[in-house]
Amino acid sequence: SKITIVGVPMDLGQRNPGVNMGPNAMRYAGVSEYLEGLGYKVTDYNDIEIGKAEYLEDPKINLRNLKAVADASETLGEKVDSIVKSGEFPLILGGDHSVAIGSLAGIAKNYKKLGVIWYDAHGDLNTPETSPSGNIHGMPLAASLGIGHPALTNVLNYSPKVKPENIVIIGARDLDAGERELIKARGIKVYTMHEIDRLGMTRVIEETIEYLKDRTDGVHLSLDLDGLDPADAPGVGTPVIGGISYRESHLAMEMLAEADIITSADFVEVNPILDERNRTAVVAVKLMGSLFGEKLL
Ligand code: ARG
Ligand code: MN
Ligand code: MN
Ligand code: MN
Repeated sequence: SKITIVGVPMDLGQRNPGVNMGPNAMRYAGVSEYLEGLGYKVTDYNDIEIGKAEYLEDPKINLRNLKAVADASETLGEKVDSIVKSGEFPLILGGDHSVAIGSLAGIAKNYKKLGVIWYDAHGDLNTPETSPSGNIHGMPLAASLGIGHPALTNVLNYSPKVKPENIVIIGARDLDAGERELIKARGIKVYTMHEIDRLGMTRVIEETIEYLKDRTDGVHLSLDLDGLDPADAPGVGTPVIGGISYRESHLAMEMLAEADIITSADFVEVNPILDERNRTAVVAVKLMGSLFGEKLL
């Protein structure tokens, strides 16, 4: 029942200014006080230091700001590793989704069979070869599988962090061609919006828990706020219509709390510049409350 918050003011994995302010937006939304109110001891480690954007881009490698993203991943990975080793729950606040490269590097060192729930409109399974954008926030899940540039796949000097059969993607509705191929080739379990519509979130989460429960020894939740519909979470850089509602997400978090399987989490892509009165940060914090067991009665 100890939570350690780490802020990662990372915006170098994509091109929209403002996502570096995501951690503070969630702090202003009251994350520490709220989780303390649920009975946790919360420590805010403050922010990881992020380097500078590249002044000159190298168009040949299709990896924007590779050096600074890789350096921050190492720093974050070491910090997260030490949090897990001291028996605390690492709660990472992004920052763009490239931060998950560092989170997973630090967490997976401590689990033989780490499970990952990737709650996102996107697969984030691109490589420099398949990426349409060169943005590293579209690559963290591939990098964690050991696919991509070595500076991203070998953070903390080991690879892979996670096995394809231990991943569940929830909320996908925008996948690039290379990502679809990778999902098929590696047999990654995906609940697209189609399955969420057909089965309902209750069954999607029941099946996810059932699937991960026995094959994993810990489960990391990587929640990209763009997994939610932009109507409920407008403050994101890559919104995609037709997403998961706030209510469904709230239910998903409550069911994960009840099953007690989540051992670490990151909440990413909150961009207050693109937001409306900080409501996306407020949504993120409320979802954390449900994930940490809040109940009305
Ligand atoms: N698939 C697109 C790309 O590779 C968008 C990725 C969006 N990722 C995110 N974490 N929001 O550029
Ligand atoms: Mn996304
Ligand atoms: Mn993402
Ligand atoms: Mn609730």
